[in-house]
Amino acid sequence: MIFNFDQEISRENTASVKFDGRQQYFGTTDVTPLWVADMDFAVPDCVTRALQERINHPVLGYTLYPDSIYQSIIDWFQRRHQWNIERDWILMAPGIVPSLFAAVQAFAKEGEGVIVQSPVYFPFFSAVTTNHRQLINNPLREVNGRYEIDFEHLETCAKQGARLFLLCTPHNPVGRVWSEAELQQVLDIGRRYDLTILSDDIHCDLIYSGVKHTMLGRLAQPGDKIITAIAPNKTFNIPGLGLSALVIPDEQQRTAMKKIFESLHMGNHNPLSITAFEAAYREGDAWLDALMQYLEATRDFAQDFIAREIPQLKLIKPEATYLLWLDCRALGMSDARLRDFFVHQCKLGMNPGSVFGEGGSGFMRMNIGTTKARIASALAAIKQGVAGLTK
Ligand SMILES: Cc1ncc(COP(=O)(O)O)c(C=O)c1O
Repeated sequence: MIFNFDQEISRENTASVKFDGRQQYFGTTDVTPLWVADMDFAVPDCVTRALQERINHPVLGYTLYPDSIYQSIIDWFQRRHQWNIERDWILMAPGIVPSLFAAVQAFAKEGEGVIVQSPVYFPFFSAVTTNHRQLINNPLREVNGRYEIDFEHLETCAKQGARLFLLCTPHNPVGRVWSEAELQQVLDIGRRYDLTILSDDIHCDLIYSGVKHTMLGRLAQPGDKIITAIAPNKTFNIPGLGLSALVIPDEQQRTAMKKIFESLHMGNHNPLSITAFEAAYREGDAWLDALMQYLEATRDFAQDFIAREIPQLKLIKPEATYLLWLDCRALGMSDARLRDFFVHQCKLGMNPGSVFGEGGSGFMRMNIGTTKARIASALAAIKQGVAGLTK
C-alpha cells in the first residue's frame, strides 16, 4: 500500500491549535508551526472510513464503550508489544493528561510527594502543583548527547516519602526509549519504596528502527503498582478526539482511579472518538509502519543537515517520537532571546525548552511530524538565521 506523507494539507482555519493558535502563542501568524505535538498528515484511511460509516447513521446519542474497543486494545498490545492485557484491567479515560491529574489525586494526598523527571512534557508538573502535592524532581542526566535516569537520585527522591512516580516512556521531549534494564531498575525502586508508577506510554508506537520499546506494564509482577496510560492518539494523529485508556491490573488501584473519574462525572465518551480509536488499533499497522519510515528519513536528514550546515546546534537524536530536542546553548542566548530569534529571524514556531522545566533552558523542541519539504526549509531558515548572527 502506498501512503503519501509528502502531500501538503492546509490546516489553517480548522481551529487547529498548532496553526490557528500561532497569533496567540507567538504573537504572529508568520511562522511555520513546528510546536504542538500533532502531525500535519492525513489520518489513516481506515480511520476516515470508519468515521464516515458511523456518521452515515444520523443519530449521535450517548455511547457506551463496546466490547470491541477493549478487544482492539488487547489485540494491539499483544500484536505490537507482546503484552497480554486482561479485559478487566482496562479503564477507558479521556485524554492522558486528565489521567495524570486523576492519578495524582488518587495516589498522593495533599502535601505528599510525586516524582517527575525534567525536562518533561509540562503537564507532568502542573498535574502535581495544581493539586497541591509536593513536586519532587529527579532531573535526567545528559551523558554525551543521550539522556539517562539518575537512579541514585531517584532513590533519594523515593526516600523522601514520595507516593507516586510519573514516568514518561518514551520520554518527551528528550526522545529516550528506556531500556528493559532501566525499566527493571525503575520497578525495583518502586517495589522498595511502595511507589505507584504511572507509566505514560502515549509515544510507545512511534519507535525508530534499531530500538525496542518495552512496556513497563509487561515487566510488572503481581503486587507491583503500575498504571499504564495508552492511546492511539499520537500514533495515528487523532489527538483532537481525546480518548485514551488506562491499564491497571490491581483492582484497588483501578477502583481508586474510577472513583476520581466518577466524582467528576467523566464516564461516557463520544461515538466518533470511540469509532476512530478502535479502527486505528484494528487496521492501522501498515500506515504506522510507513509513517515511521517517513519520520525516520526526516529525522536522519535533519541530523545530517544540522551536523553539516549548522554545527552551532546539536541534535539529541530521538529513539522515538516525532519531536526533536535541539541543543542551542552554544548560541549563548537567554531563553527569551532564543525564542525571539527563532520566531522573528527564522520564522519558526517551536516550543522553547525552558517550558519543560529544569534542564530545558537553551533548548528548543522541533516537531517533525510534517512534510520533509517543510522540515528542509525550516532547517535552511535556521542555517540562514544562525549565519546572520555572526555577520
Ligand atoms: C507524554 C505525553 N503525555 C500526554 C500527552 C497528551 O495526552 P492527551 O492529549 O491524551 O491528554 C502528550 C502530548 O504531547 C505527551 O507528550
